[in-house]
Amino acid sequence: MSKTPHHVAVIPGDGIGPEVTAAAAQVLTATGVAFAFRSYEAGDDCLERTGKALPQETLDGALAAKAVLFGAVGKSAAEVILRLRAELGTFANLRPSKAYQGVPCLHPKTDLMIVRENTECLYAGHESRLTPEVVTATRVITRGASERIARFAFDYARAHGRRMVTAVHKSNVLRLSDGLFLECCRKVAADYRDIAYEEALVDSAAMKLVLDPTQYQVMVTTNLFGDILSDLAAGVIGGLGLCPSANLGPEHALFEPVHGSAPDIAGQGKANPSAAILCGAMLLRHLGEEAAALRVEKALEAALAAGEVTGDLGGSLNTTAATGAVIARL
Ligand code: IPM
Ligand code: MN
Repeated sequence: MSKTPHHVAVIPGDGIGPEVTAAAAQVLTATGVAFAFRSYEAGDDCLERTGKALPQETLDGALAAKAVLFGAVGKSAAEVILRLRAELGTFANLRPSKAYQGVPCLHPKTDLMIVRENTECLYAGHESRLTPEVVTATRVITRGASERIARFAFDYARAHGRRMVTAVHKSNVLRLSDGLFLECCRKVAADYRDIAYEEALVDSAAMKLVLDPTQYQVMVTTNLFGDILSDLAAGVIGGLGLCPSANLGPEHALFEPVHGSAPDIAGQGKANPSAAILCGAMLLRHLGEEAAALRVEKALEAALAAGEVTGDLGGSLNTTAATGAVIARL
């Protein structure tokens, strides 16, 4: 491999973050694709030590890298990850939920992509206390961000052989904000005649996801609904241990497992590295290393099918051994 290495910033964070990002980096290295990893601090421990949950050096490192591999952070999650998403301009949050053979789940045929808007909605950070007894939160929905995420979802569907996009909303109550979101989705849908378009109310979509997730292919939705539905979809395929995500923007990309820092099992070698390894596959694909991305996914699938997995999935391996089981199949 004489090619220039891909420069990746790693932000392990707290709890099981360091264990799972190390596993993912190991798998990435084992593909033979050349990487230069640089590690940066962020999170609760970092806050305690340095007074900052997200030091400038970490932000600069993330901005300078071709891609960021993120682990998990504890109590400072919102400050760290929301700020990173904003500073990196990653307006789209891709959250796949795919069922795997050998992993007990509700619906073995699930293969869904949730495209979550990543910059606004109730995440815009406008909360105010009007009186000691009354607080408000402002839901920001803009035409610009809504059209951009809708276009992203349709482009994703087209590029990945998906034939339908479902816009998820609550416009029967949030008439103006989700009214605008839907108006934007409809306008964009008209430019993609080859992809079917439908709309679903978020409450009903949540129920249908549990009953039969195969009726959806690509869901596009606002920030908070995407947050909630992606955890729901994770539950459908057997848990958060298997769900990666990609935060994508025009210039930067950050990959993070959807799971949190799981402080209760941190440092014990119990963490399931699958989600972080799948983040590695998404990262490879983003860097144009499609063949290596597929190899990682196939190797993980085979290890899962063989039951060479951590305790949360019913196996008996520790994090290192479960990672080794994937590497052995590359
Ligand atoms: C997620 C998390 C974050 C979010 C939290 C930790 C701020 O739940 O990535 O889904 O709400 O986006
Ligand atoms: Mn979440």
